[in-house]
Amino acid sequence: MSIVPNGAAPPVHKPTSTKGAPHRVALSLGHLPKKQDLKGPWPRTPSRVDPNNPPWPAYRGYHEYSFAHATMGVRLPTILGKAIEDTIRTLNEEYEVERVTDLLACIERMEELMSDLSGNAKLRPIIDDNEADVALWNKEIAKYFQGKDFMNAPWLFAEAYKYRRLHECFSVSRYWTSYDVFYRQKCDTFSRSADAVFELSMRFAEPFKLPENLSAEGKIEHEKLMFKELTQICLWGNSTDLSLLINMTEDQIKSLQSTGGDHLAATEKNILGNHLPQLWETVKQLREKTGGRIDFVLDNAGFELYCDCVYADFLIQSGLAKQVRFHGKRFAWFVSDVTKKDWQWLINTMVYGYLFPKATEQERESLRRMGLRWKQYEQEGKWVYEQHPFWCTGYTFWDLHSEAPDLFLHLSRSDLVFFKGDLNHRKLTYDCAAPASTPFEVAIGPMASSAGAPTICSLRTIKSDVVVGMESDELAEKLDDEEPGWKISGKYAVVLLSEGRPGEKVRFA
Ligand code: F6P
Ligand code: MG
Repeated sequence: MSIVPNGAAPPVHKPTSTKGAPHRVALSLGHLPKKQDLKGPWPRTPSRVDPNNPPWPAYRGYHEYSFAHATMGVRLPTILGKAIEDTIRTLNEEYEVERVTDLLACIERMEELMSDLSGNAKLRPIIDDNEADVALWNKEIAKYFQGKDFMNAPWLFAEAYKYRRLHECFSVSRYWTSYDVFYRQKCDTFSRSADAVFELSMRFAEPFKLPENLSAEGKIEHEKLMFKELTQICLWGNSTDLSLLINMTEDQIKSLQSTGGDHLAATEKNILGNHLPQLWETVKQLREKTGGRIDFVLDNAGFELYCDCVYADFLIQSGLAKQVRFHGKRFAWFVSDVTKKDWQWLINTMVYGYLFPKATEQERESLRRMGLRWKQYEQEGKWVYEQHPFWCTGYTFWDLHSEAPDLFLHLSRSDLVFFKGDLNHRKLTYDCAAPASTPFEVAIGPMASSAGAPTICSLRTIKSDVVVGMESDELAEKLDDEEPGWKISGKYAVVLLSEGRPGEKVRFA
């Protein structure tokens, strides 16, 4: 076929030496518009989304521009090295020969993991250690990551895989199946958070009461302000993540944990996608319907968990929630994440412990009272702690409804699900290079669009590459130019809400 643009002279066909071959056509395109200098569009959304093909390009360890590179190449080996040191410390304190040799074998497995990680080995299946997540892990590896290694698999999967392999070092042992290599660090950091801990306990130990002299409207306004401040406390509690803050001084911890009112007002401007007003409307409506169920998919132990509990305490006392369900991890995860042991430790240390030698009697009493009230909530079923195996897999939450349908249905029954922290946000958004202006509901895909998707709120201080829900891409570009490192500093945050699909929620009697 030959193409002759409008008004152009017919092209001249030159005979070629190849007999029977089609003639080549020379086109004259002089009347068409000039080629334009277009800004490249964001990469297409692939028609098939799977763990190796996120909806926008994945971050991978070999991408030097991404935090993936520093994490996979430097931070993870450092974290693993510290974990080995911790285990050696425990080994040195042991005295029974069988336990000692069993632990020694765990250390050898950790050393193997270190050499796989630093030698960028291929990802092998997880050994069947009778944990409930083994099938999920190995299915994902077999379907999407055969032949992939630590650096070329998507960062999210490779990083989660490393923590699962670390767990395996212990889970196949005889005596050390539930050993937590980060436990000491988690407890220690909380014990160094005295100022911020008492700042909150001295305000909230006594049951919360609204000032009596206020009108009905004044009371609502007062509650709204409290709600906004406590949401921010819960939000910024996420900035002390141990995986990033190894070797911090006490003063640095203090400045990060400052919870005073002025500080909070100043930091509100650092919330780059801010749905706080909509969040207040959502919880207020819950109370109008006599209080709902609120879930927290937890992130970090210690101070962050303490802030989460102070917030949850307020939600219960104010009648905004009738029940709060907390979701933690089944084993040590991303250094500081909450396990059942961390949960119990926090509440018991508040009630019975002597963690803060410099505390006054009043301060100690405030902590004790609050801890007792929280224990009471647990006994009454107002607070429930859970740990589904899905939370410690490499799947993102786009796959929650297909890979853990029981959990999805369980969350569908909640009136509001808070996802705390950076990793949960990465999992909600598939941890990929979506434009910063992508609406949250688009970025979380099936978690917003599936039938039964609950109302979701992500409370996250920004500590890695993926950023969505901002007003414009320009703001992100400006920050890229003016503040390199803004995506990993924890200085900025988002409070993003998705309303879910309440009309189609699966309701159980
Ligand atoms: O290793 C990087 C990372 O996974 C980031 O998501 C974040 O920097 C950190 O670890 C975990 O943060 P968070 O405890 O807030 O999920
Ligand atoms: Mg964490």
